[in-house]
Amino acid sequence: MSHRSAKDFFRPLAVGAPAPAPEVPARPSRAIHFFDPSNAKMAAKVPAMVGTVDVLLGNLEDAVKADNKLAAREGLVRIAQDTPTLGGPDSPTQLWTRINALDSPWALDDLLTLVPAIGDRLDVVMVPKVQGAEDIHYVDRLLAQLEAKAGLTRPILVHAILETARGVANVEEICGASPRMQGLSLGPADLAADRRMKTTRVGGGHPGYLVRQDPVGGNVTGERSIFQQDLWHYTIARMVDACATHGIYPYYGPFGDIADVVACEDQFRNAFLLGCVGTWSLHPQQIAIANRVFSPSVEDVAHARRVVAAMGDGTGAVMLDGKMEDDASLKQCLVMVELAEQLAA
Ligand code: GLV
Ligand code: MG
Repeated sequence: MSHRSAKDFFRPLAVGAPAPAPEVPARPSRAIHFFDPSNAKMAAKVPAMVGTVDVLLGNLEDAVKADNKLAAREGLVRIAQDTPTLGGPDSPTQLWTRINALDSPWALDDLLTLVPAIGDRLDVVMVPKVQGAEDIHYVDRLLAQLEAKAGLTRPILVHAILETARGVANVEEICGASPRMQGLSLGPADLAADRRMKTTRVGGGHPGYLVRQDPVGGNVTGERSIFQQDLWHYTIARMVDACATHGIYPYYGPFGDIADVVACEDQFRNAFLLGCVGTWSLHPQQIAIANRVFSPSVEDVAHARRVVAAMGDGTGAVMLDGKMEDDASLKQCLVMVELAEQLAA
């Protein structure tokens, strides 16, 4: 049975309302799995990973040693050329890269090398440390020139990492800076440093960031519950709103404590519930966590389908299992159903 699309409800209908944002292709990207193309052991595993993960990203920036920048760039070209099933509109696995920061000595050469060599299969360029619209304009113009020179007909999309205080302040203009904008990721490690937060981690929570229940009966020495808070809630919420406004996709980012799979799953789930569509994976075991968390559960989808069916023409209110459902809860359910259908396609 075909159902109404969430977009039918979200599209502005009023006369004079702003035109809908350009459509960025909706391709599953629950896990963006990072690999270092200068690392021969990691690179050798890439071909077998095609079809097992939504996105494979050749990382050229942080975590690649300065001496290995050239090897990483050339390694990525070689891997893409040796793996013709990776990247492009027909591949089950998108090919992304994270280029070096725009104020580094390497970013220009990253694009000058990659676009002519593998631009036909490079789906998305992730740009780190984006501060404002001017950074996106620069990459956009450069890509336009390089694509034209290489005779490419499919535009390479751009994804910005939000990892400076200024970037967060300018999140709206970053999202709207180019029709190439595909999405945003949170960069919690760089953002923490830039904000001078007092943490030493790559993403995730902190045991010191908590609230404590008020003392029962004024007894400050008595047992009290402690609730750890999400350090990233504010930034993710801002990202989600800005991305929704511009019709692009928000993502969590890295979770560096690879062994702590429980906290990793919690962090990913918070982001999913707030509206993110995916996250980064820094280790193969994080792919499975991301795929699980960023796919709606069978129970949630079944419930959502029941609400859609019960709501008939989509207006008014019905009671289901003692709960009131109306036009607004229907819209939430359509988001869930659409995501399930997109992932099943
Ligand atoms: C990612 O790049 C981060 O800084 O967290
Ligand atoms: Mg960073």
